[in-house]
Amino acid sequence: MNRRIGVLISGRGSNLQAIIDAIQDRRLDATIAIVISNVAGAAGLDRARAAGIETAVMPHRAARSREDYDRSLVDTVRAHDVALVCLAGFMRLLSPAFIDAFPNRVVNIHPSLLPAFPGVDAQRQAVEHGVKVSGATVHFVTPDLDAGPIILQSAVPVLPGDTAETLSARILVEEHRLYPEAIRLVLDGQWHLDGRCFVT
Ligand code: GRF
Repeated sequence: MNRRIGVLISGRGSNLQAIIDAIQDRRLDATIAIVISNVAGAAGLDRARAAGIETAVMPHRAARSREDYDRSLVDTVRAHDVALVCLAGFMRLLSPAFIDAFPNRVVNIHPSLLPAFPGVDAQRQAVEHGVKVSGATVHFVTPDLDAGPIILQSAVPVLPGDTAETLSARILVEEHRLYPEAIRLVLDGQWHLDGRCFVT
């Protein structure tokens, strides 16, 4: 497998930055071939440019349908010959038009211990539910929301008095550690899927 990756973002890009830092620190042997944002002003685009990484802005509103948009994403990703697509705060559901083009080659990071609290506002869901432990999950992307095979997880305590914001900040620290590590595992290729399970 080549070690070129594409990163899809919509916003802040702190996980993108963690991947950039891991590559620069040689904790992750990979090359970011392209960063794609569906939001023109995403701060993550500036992080990519500052690191000399090629960027593309692909506003979803310009597309006639979700499938049309996803097909144009496929074309852009393919043009950059990446082995792995990493979603890093990409706030759009991907249809089979995209996912089927890269089987077991799209990963995502989610701020909960899946399968608990899928979807938006996972940290707020965790606080409101009163769980004592939450965390972060890196998983393969399937057409079902936040439901694909789990690659790595990290647990984070929920402390008395936590708000969605304080818990998010604590989980984010773990996200930044976990995502480059999970990408390394996948790129190393020493794994298989045993049913739904990622096994190294
Ligand atoms: C992270 O919490 C990630 O888990 C979720 O979206 C957020 C993105 O943050 N999918 P950032 O853009 O990487 O800073």
